[in-house]
Amino acid sequence: MSKNPRASIEEDHDAIKEVLGRMQTITDPQVLLPVLNELRGALSEHFAREEEPEGMHEIVASMAPNSVASLQNILAEHEVFTQRLDRLIEETRACVEGPQAGILRETAELTESLHDHEERETALFTDAVFTDLGRSS
Ligand SMILES: [Fe+2]
Ligand SMILES: [Fe+2]
Repeated sequence: MSKNPRASIEEDHDAIKEVLGRMQTITDPQVLLPVLNELRGALSEHFAREEEPEGMHEIVASMAPNSVASLQNILAEHEVFTQRLDRLIEETRACVEGPQAGILRETAELTESLHDHEERETALFTDAVFTDLGRSS
């Protein structure tokens, strides 16, 4: 890549901020799941870029050598974020494939049987009217 590491890292930060902004507005786990996976992909690339020797380490070591220890602490947080996100993805998937899938299936079944019920009532009414017409004519 021709871009310098710092520009790439800052570009990543903008892209991640955009995904986080979208994530905040989502209330449906089914919609959330692909966005969490998108964030997972973006973060794993981004963390790798920051952790490369020529990534943040070189930038900080050359510009602010006193901050190298702080940088090590910050980079150590990557693993924690990755684990938290993996856990959240698993919980969201369990919800979408478990309780949420059950709710959607039950909603579809209820809808179908209620339609059927109403149709049988309508047929019954129609029969009754025809029977009545037949009697009065
Ligand atoms: Fe970052
Ligand atoms: Fe980072």
